[in-house]
Amino acid sequence: MAVFEDSWFDAHERVVFCHDAVTGLKAIIAIHSTALGPAAGGTRLWSYASDDEALHDALRLSQGMSYKNAMAGLKFGGGKAVIIKTPDFDGSDALYERYGEFVDQLGGAYVTAEDVGMSVDIMEKVARKTKFVAGLSRKKGQAGGDPSPKTAFGIFKGMEAAVLYKLGKESMDGVTVAVQGVGHVGYHLCEYLYEAGARLVVADIDNSRVQRIADEFEGTGVALEDILSQEVDVVAPCALGAIINQQSIPKFRSKIIAGGANNQLETREDGQRIHEAGILYAPDYVINGGGIINVASEYYADASDDEVWDRVAAIGPRLTGIFEESAASGKPTNVVADELARRIIAEGR
Ligand code: NAI
Repeated sequence: MAVFEDSWFDAHERVVFCHDAVTGLKAIIAIHSTALGPAAGGTRLWSYASDDEALHDALRLSQGMSYKNAMAGLKFGGGKAVIIKTPDFDGSDALYERYGEFVDQLGGAYVTAEDVGMSVDIMEKVARKTKFVAGLSRKKGQAGGDPSPKTAFGIFKGMEAAVLYKLGKESMDGVTVAVQGVGHVGYHLCEYLYEAGARLVVADIDNSRVQRIADEFEGTGVALEDILSQEVDVVAPCALGAIINQQSIPKFRSKIIAGGANNQLETREDGQRIHEAGILYAPDYVINGGGIINVASEYYADASDDEVWDRVAAIGPRLTGIFEESAASGKPTNVVADELARRIIAEGR
């Protein structure tokens, strides 16, 4: 396993490999940058084809968190952890507590929260061993708890901005949206969209989740392989990353891609390709910053829940600025966002 030669290695400050023989825990914590504050980012629980793949994921996701936190205006650097779901993984309390001990040993350089495969319940177990954790149960009126409703709200506000910018539509009424993945984020996004009068097409590997969207929000389920090529106004990727790539780009028939999944572009060049295809891409780490804004407010205890919703809503105008800069400079939106994020981090350093 080559760390420094990995294509996503980007001057990461620290990469920690965690193993516990008793519980079977295998985890990788990647700290990309602490220039703006503690490296914050969720823990992903996933079965990987290889340890290399897990490392690759941790490296790229942690860099994404540095950029995301910088763009959200937070006093956080970027980090991310993956817990490897091995074939004999048992998800015991002891395993999550052991993971909490590893996080604690970093002394606050890394602050964790939930990502794919994790939950508030699991984070409570991690928190038995460390205070460097957010995304815990919420006390009434305070920020915190499951961040996915806030993530979804930020995506909704970002999508509104994209629809206004690209299609000239002032509201989401009648706008058609294809949502890939209706888990935590996708479900809440569908809720906001439905309430705003949008029409939904959805796909998920879990049929019961598709059925729930059909029952509650009049969504139509389509085959997994057809969701990105739906003839809709907006495609919202809310499952896993790397779905915008050389193979998929010619298939998109929407004018906008705006969704919550992290690292949607398989390579940076795919940002250029999507730009040339005339599709407006809302950079993932800008539009999906609502969850981390919530986590930051919980961790620093510096805002009421109402104030957090306002902070999340600012994602809309932030994206409009990126769209305008992209149009003025001719650069793809992902490049405009990366440049801005790097500038903010450099100033922090
Ligand atoms: P989740 O695990 O609750 O939902 C993911 C959903 O995608 C599941 O329903 C799963 O069955 C489905 N899925 C997996 N592979 C699929 C495929 N090939 N086609 C269609 N559906 C598929 O995860 P969550 O929390 O909703 O996160 C979704 C995405 O948003 C992830 O990329 C995550 O990193 C990102 N994100 C989540 C945040 C949060 O607040 N939960 C914050 C920022 C980003």
